[in-house]
Amino acid sequence: MNSEVTLRPFDLADLDDFYVWASDDRVSAWCGWDTYTSKEDLLNYMKSHVLPHPWMRAICYHGRPIGSIFVTPYKGNDRCRCELGYHLASQYWGKGITTKAVKLVLGTVFRDFEDLERVEALVDVDNVGSQKVLEKSGFSKDGVLRRFWILKGKVKDMVLYSFISTDPLV
Ligand SMILES: CC(C)(COP(=O)(O)OP(=O)(O)OC[C@H]1O[C@@H](n2cnc3c(N)ncnc32)[C@H](O)[C@@H]1OP(=O)(O)O)[C@@H](O)C(=O)NCCC(=O)NCCS
Repeated sequence: MNSEVTLRPFDLADLDDFYVWASDDRVSAWCGWDTYTSKEDLLNYMKSHVLPHPWMRAICYHGRPIGSIFVTPYKGNDRCRCELGYHLASQYWGKGITTKAVKLVLGTVFRDFEDLERVEALVDVDNVGSQKVLEKSGFSKDGVLRRFWILKGKVKDMVLYSFISTDPLV
């Protein structure tokens, strides 16, 4: 698995691969965005958000993009923190690919951002697969944020996880 999973920046030629998971209801079910039904809309999103993003990478399996992973740094006095997120095409779920990708991120991100001390992730209390990814990657559970956001019209509790720079890479 180790060398089969790699990370790299996106480019617009990845549109067709990106569309595979962006158009998948099983992936968007846990996310704030709606399932894409048009490649043109996705192309516009890639131009406006993916390419300019400070740290977003394609999760590649044998060189082909099958998902995305990103860290969004906070600013000002919060610049010691960033938020981690990820999505994987559903046909590849359950193979340990996202766990490997998260470990790759943790191995580089503290060098990539000066002052970064903490990577945090917010996961729906019902998104057990994502919670397992974080726990297998060495994250600690900080607590549950009750009634924290609205997912597809439903108010949800979220689990807050963190990994700090001195935590051991597993
Ligand atoms: C969450 C997601 C990224 C996980 O990716 P993945 O590559 O399948 O994750 P991994 O294989 O590394 O690990 C998943 C683990 O959770 C387990 N799992 C998955 N769904 C589960 C469920 N409903 N209940 C219990 N365990 C579950 C898997 O068996 C695996 O554990 P194992 O290694 O002990 O067998 C993927 O399901 C996804 O893209 N989901 C939709 C988007 C999303 O939820 N993003 C995160 C928002 S916070």
